[in-house]
Amino acid sequence: MPLIVRNASTLTQFLIEQRRRHPEASGDFNALILDVSRACKAIAKTVAYGALTDMLGKQPAARSAGQVNVQGEVQQQLDVLSNEVFISMNERGGCLAGMASEEMEAPYPIAAPHARGKYLLVFDPLDGSSNIDVNVSVGSIFSVLRAPALVREGATLTEADFLQAGTQQVAAGYALYGPSTMLVLTVGTGVHGFTLDPVMGEFMLTHPAMRVPEDTQEFAINASNARFWEAPVKRYVDECLAGRTGVRGKDFNMRWIASMVAEAHRILMRGGVFMYPRDTKDASKPGRLRLLYEANPVGWIMEQAGGRASTGRENVLQVQPSGLHQRIGLVFGSKNEVERIERYHAEPQRVADSHTPLFAERSLFRD
Ligand code: F6P
Repeated sequence: MPLIVRNASTLTQFLIEQRRRHPEASGDFNALILDVSRACKAIAKTVAYGALTDMLGKQPAARSAGQVNVQGEVQQQLDVLSNEVFISMNERGGCLAGMASEEMEAPYPIAAPHARGKYLLVFDPLDGSSNIDVNVSVGSIFSVLRAPALVREGATLTEADFLQAGTQQVAAGYALYGPSTMLVLTVGTGVHGFTLDPVMGEFMLTHPAMRVPEDTQEFAINASNARFWEAPVKRYVDECLAGRTGVRGKDFNMRWIASMVAEAHRILMRGGVFMYPRDTKDASKPGRLRLLYEANPVGWIMEQAGGRASTGRENVLQVQPSGLHQRIGLVFGSKNEVERIERYHAEPQRVADSHTPLFAERSLFRD
């Protein structure tokens, strides 16, 4: 039995309340979000069984799903399973025309006997899955778009139908499988967090109207990539590291979980800035994270919570996608910090700066 049962709205009640603002709505949208939440509950349950599922570990060949996904990354069995859960829980509701996922190269059309609906669902079914075997929080990320009219009427679903800028999203969210399971959602009316009551199996509204503080003294970046960063990122991190004796005049803290959903959640709860910027590590990859099912949903959540998400050069939500699995440099979190990083990208590059050791005359980072 749970120790405390909070008296809060369920996700269903919250969605019904939202729908009252749209008397013309058919109810499909609410049904879709509930289907997505059901997929997240099923994945949460599986993940919570940990090693008991016999699907964890360093993937010895016998246990590995044996495939690489479209990113060229080895698929964990739980990646594949979570993808199947998302598909099976969302294909029969009649709300979707198609789906696209990190784990599938091509879009997944909704076909007979299932009815075709007016939305598209894009998702990363298990983000941060390399953390699974060490029992660190992972999550699912999703974004809902409108299907083009012809597709709704039965035209063949193509990759192009998904290539919509983040500003076109009608819902975005993530589920975090941590000590507690949470669903964090925006439908364009702020960001709301729901905690899963594991006994009742209901997502309960525990964090209404989440806000990202505008300022922060905490940043997150994989510092092992430092030698590949572009100058504005080097400058920003160096100034944070210089702390109160540097130009920022205050000390910063650093965190890196290597699970973007978990980092996004920390930033929503207490502020911070996350960076996986474009770098020079691999010329074929202009960034690490995927635009359609990672950067865009997290970006809209940040914006709806008063934060900001950027490529460093522009608002990430305004980028016109060119591919289903396109990667992009991403910076998100507390607004004033993200804007500062954008300013650094916009300013003429500094070759030497005696105040910042990383850029000094004999610096490792000097061009
Ligand atoms: O899907 C990408 C991801 O797993 C994110 O969740 C995470 O932020 C990042 O990759 C971790 O990257 P790295 O392995 O470079 O630390």
